[in-house]
Amino acid sequence: MTRYEEVKADLKANPRTWLITGVAGFIGSNLLETLLKLDQTVVGLDNFATGHQYNLDEVQTLVTEEQWTRFRFIEGDIRNLEDCREAVKGTDYVLHQAALGSVPRSIEDPIATNQANIDGFLNMLVAAKDEEVSSFTYAASSSTYGDHPDLPKVEDKIGNPLSPYAVTKYVNELYASVFARTYGFKTIGLRYFNVFGPRQDPNGAYAAVIPKWTAAMINGDPVCVNGDGETSRDFCFIDNAVQANILSATTNIETYELFNVAVGERTTLNELAYFIRRDLSSLGRDVVPDVRYAPFRRGDVRHSQAAIEKAIRVIGYEPKIDVEKGIKETAIWHIQKNKI
Ligand SMILES: NC(=O)c1ccc[n+]([C@@H]2O[C@H](COP(=O)([O-])OP(=O)(O)OC[C@H]3O[C@@H](n4cnc5c(N)ncnc54)[C@H](O)[C@@H]3O)[C@@H](O)[C@H]2O)c1
Repeated sequence: MTRYEEVKADLKANPRTWLITGVAGFIGSNLLETLLKLDQTVVGLDNFATGHQYNLDEVQTLVTEEQWTRFRFIEGDIRNLEDCREAVKGTDYVLHQAALGSVPRSIEDPIATNQANIDGFLNMLVAAKDEEVSSFTYAASSSTYGDHPDLPKVEDKIGNPLSPYAVTKYVNELYASVFARTYGFKTIGLRYFNVFGPRQDPNGAYAAVIPKWTAAMINGDPVCVNGDGETSRDFCFIDNAVQANILSATTNIETYELFNVAVGERTTLNELAYFIRRDLSSLGRDVVPDVRYAPFRRGDVRHSQAAIEKAIRVIGYEPKIDVEKGIKETAIWHIQKNKI
């Protein structure tokens, strides 16, 4: 039995109460689905800044009526300390996902990103510390590696941040370390590397590349590659990120910790376009993508790949789904949901 299987069996037998912030978003709603299917009690907090009611509605269709009764949604804002205190009340484990994502968004509007990602983060830390929750796991980011040249990225070697977004995620880590030292409040930051999968938003100016390209190819719209297409990323399917959260929340740690969450592989944007096209074709959507090359984007790192050994060793992380399998599952979801 893997540690993940053991933890899930234990949670089923001894259900806990969880808070998911950003529950109406992509990662949050996937955490919700998994936890409800494990018969957990879940409180969710979101202000619908980038999340959607239809993500929650979709989760409702995927769980039993009884499981859905164990979910309580609070429409609220992490920038408001009282909302954080109300949400965290009586919970055992906090999975803090709420933030404004996207490097380009943060370049357009650094103040809004700072308010949600730093002020909101600090509110959640204070509320969770005062409530004395058993664990606090938060969404950190691979953007913290910034301009550090090493590949793969190892947790203790970071460079200078390349965007306001990266600054906010780094400040989260600094606050987490200070809360461990000052108050003895232990946290785990998960440095996600390009998470993708069902319910990731394909729409809007700041959509991530996989949902955006999948939607574009289905609609016959042009696919825009920033740069020469040889930029690479360690794309991580959502199930792996969900697993990392559940393992983190249930791990006893001595102090604060940070883990890379990815697969440990590298895929270029050109390869990605090929995989998506191939999968859509195999699903009956034969597309000839109109690929257009645009200038490199400000704030983007050229290559990214994670060393995942620390997460494997300390929390028993075992990513199960590689990028090709994940892209196929994602394409199936886009087609089935007919959102696009
Ligand atoms: N998806 C990725 O590849 C990736 C990579 C690195 C880090 N992250 C981090 O993971 C977390 C979740 O990202 P996601 O991809 O699910 O994005 P998402 O935009 O789908 O979800 C974020 C959620 O947070 C909510 N939110 C934003 N500001 C809020 C506020 N002030 N109060 C309450 N709720 C608020 C949004 O409405 C949304 O539902 C974020 O912290 C993000 O920075 C994501």
